[in-house]
Amino acid sequence: MPSRYAVIGHPIEHSRSPVIHAAFARQTGQDLVYDRILGRLDDFAGDVQRFFAAGGAGLNVTVPFKEQAWALADERSPYAETAGAVNTLSRLPDGRLRGDNTDGAGLVRDLAGNHGFAFAGRRVLLLGAGGAARGVLRPLLDAGVTELAIANRTAAKAEALAAAAAAFGPVRGGGFDGFAGAGFDLILNATSAGLGGALPALPAGCLSAGGWVYDLVYGPASVPFLDWGRSQGAAVVLDGLGMLVEQAAESFLLWRGVRPETAEVIAELRRAMAR
Ligand code: ATR
Repeated sequence: MPSRYAVIGHPIEHSRSPVIHAAFARQTGQDLVYDRILGRLDDFAGDVQRFFAAGGAGLNVTVPFKEQAWALADERSPYAETAGAVNTLSRLPDGRLRGDNTDGAGLVRDLAGNHGFAFAGRRVLLLGAGGAARGVLRPLLDAGVTELAIANRTAAKAEALAAAAAAFGPVRGGGFDGFAGAGFDLILNATSAGLGGALPALPAGCLSAGGWVYDLVYGPASVPFLDWGRSQGAAVVLDGLGMLVEQAAESFLLWRGVRPETAEVIAELRRAMAR
């Protein structure tokens, strides 16, 4: 019998996780099936419990359930703990649930592994202080940056997030204006502004000459920020498609003990999006 996995979210039809994990399974010869589950907004815990009671081995969790998955997990990885959110649930041998968060590791792997960004000694600006920003904070600090600045429209939220992460590295928070002329090596967009076609109110000179920009999402929502990056002369402009595949690869590794190759899977998704 193949092991059963799934992604649970609401909505869920758009999720590319089944395609990605099916490709990983083919490539590594792992015997598994991976489905989509439309989670009930009023009974996420029940849906998770039924999946694992029926023999499920692991779940990926997406919007809007990552915080609920954190609360449901019996034990959590350090990254999940700091993120306050879980995107990977695994059934432990004793039946308890383990919660991980692979989003930040996926982001770091995409930038460093796929694109050659050297984090050590770099100054990085993270835009946004919601769930997406919180999820990647600690892996970014662990990657060895000399400074991680968090800028948010509501400055107090960025300051609070920075204070909560201060034990893990050099991090500070504030409003957008405070970072005018600061010349960061890399700016990451973790706001939801692009979903409405908007651009955060970025101050002049916040990107260094030759700096990189990266949006945590891909598709139309990434366009305003990536266009801004090009207008600032960014040396490298990247969307979050690679992060999507890399966070999936991290989950696959946790579940199956095998790290899949990601380059061809990213390339195939890129081709499918262009069609
Ligand atoms: P997510 O889980 O995607 O991070 P969230 O927790 O609702 O969603 O957070 C959304 C983030 O995008 C917040 O940092 C929000 O800023 P505020 O805290 O000031 O609300 C940011 N955001 C949303 N729309 C924005 C816009 N038009 N300009 C700048 N920031 C925006």
